[in-house]
Amino acid sequence: METQPLLPSRGVSRSRLALLKTAVVSVVLVAAIAALLSYSGSLWRSRSVHSPVRGPSFDGDGRPGRLPVMGYNTWNAYYCDINEDKILKTARLMKSLGLLDLGYNYVNVDDCYSEKQRNSNGDIVEDPEKFPSGMRTLTDKIHDMGFKAGIYSDSGWFTCQIYPGSFQNEDRDIKLFRDNWNFDLLKYDNCAIPFDNVIKEGMVGKFQRMADAIDNLSKNTGRPPILFSLCQWGEEQPWLWAKKISQTWRTTEDIGANWRSVMDILNRNSFITWANDFYSHNDMDMLEVGNGELSYEEAKTHFTAWALLKSPLLVGTDLPSASEETLSILKNEEIIAINQDPVVGASISPFRWGINPDWTYNATHPAQFWSGESENGTVIMLLNTLDEPADLTFNLTESPWLRAGRQYSVRDLWTHTDNDTAVRTFTAHAVPAHGVVALLLRDAGDEPEGLWPPCMRLNWCMAENGTRYDGRDFMEL
Ligand code: GAL
Repeated sequence: METQPLLPSRGVSRSRLALLKTAVVSVVLVAAIAALLSYSGSLWRSRSVHSPVRGPSFDGDGRPGRLPVMGYNTWNAYYCDINEDKILKTARLMKSLGLLDLGYNYVNVDDCYSEKQRNSNGDIVEDPEKFPSGMRTLTDKIHDMGFKAGIYSDSGWFTCQIYPGSFQNEDRDIKLFRDNWNFDLLKYDNCAIPFDNVIKEGMVGKFQRMADAIDNLSKNTGRPPILFSLCQWGEEQPWLWAKKISQTWRTTEDIGANWRSVMDILNRNSFITWANDFYSHNDMDMLEVGNGELSYEEAKTHFTAWALLKSPLLVGTDLPSASEETLSILKNEEIIAINQDPVVGASISPFRWGINPDWTYNATHPAQFWSGESENGTVIMLLNTLDEPADLTFNLTESPWLRAGRQYSVRDLWTHTDNDTAVRTFTAHAVPAHGVVALLLRDAGDEPEGLWPPCMRLNWCMAENGTRYDGRDFMEL
């Protein structure tokens, strides 16, 4: 039987061709109108007051927060003991130590910068003793050095140290922070939540108030919105909703400068890595590298995990007294490159938990075997959560990003060396207690001929004729 040609044959009449053209044009037109209608519908829906969460309207150039924020934040090093001299000194060091050039381009002021009361106009006022030159002078100087600047407020009545919060003052405060003081980032905390009969909002609505204020100010001024960094400690699952109103959100309680806290945060984040992408970052809290009880190996692990999970990287140590070791960790360019990958926004995720069964919650032994994509190859992170050295082995095809039947060149992102080629499996030998291994695997062609068994996943693979790799017929099993 002859098959009907799908396209008109050469000999088709002019009138049939014209008919066909009209039909095609009509279909295209109808499709375009339908697309337009559905787009405007979704636009309307996203702005509607009935919508539970509404997205920022500024999608043009200059929309901030595509990549994880990098920079400095005052809290972990100084808590409330901050002033303009300390902050400017820190900024100068961030620059002279080469951190700005590596991408640490925000200098952020945390809690305790203001007076305890608003002034008679209702505005927040910077503490004249801590900031005698005023906030605008501070941000001017920070900007002149090549940084952006960040400020802090709270979605409730007060900040966590009982300075004025922004609840019911959202429009006024964002104008002050953005227009008058010229900050580029707002960290927005979760303390002193108003009583239910006052707020009549859930967690989302409480943060939406400031998101709307940011959005309106941006629309009115034509300036890109301030980068909105929620500090909601991971209660009410911000990874489910915060991306609609902000670019980054804390996922856990405050970090401590100790191994237990670092592991606890990593464990919690191992289950929500899917939420990370461009403009959308799980914030595992500010770095403790250089602080407290963290050993060199532990600090390396902490930094690697935060970077590869695409968390913001905010230095939080006293830079004038930072050791060479501390700086060498913060300045690992190959690790930073994964965090700031311009092509792949997703984070690494576990492919095997290791000590405890897959998908189980363990604050001491979080997942040990992780992988993800990057611009330059597959990223692998191996973690030794034990108190003694350990070998860590994995089969390449355990990672969804590595191909069967191929071999891979192995780049070590801490020793900065190209190690051997990995065929089928890879073992990191004698990983120190609480240590980390970070690798970049690149395709290096077909694996050698004649390897046995012929497949790494033995349970379902078989030959074309239906026999299993060991010659047994599948039906006999
Ligand atoms: C906490 C927040 C910390 C810090 C502190 C300031 O709620 O998680 O990162 O900002 O408030 O009081």
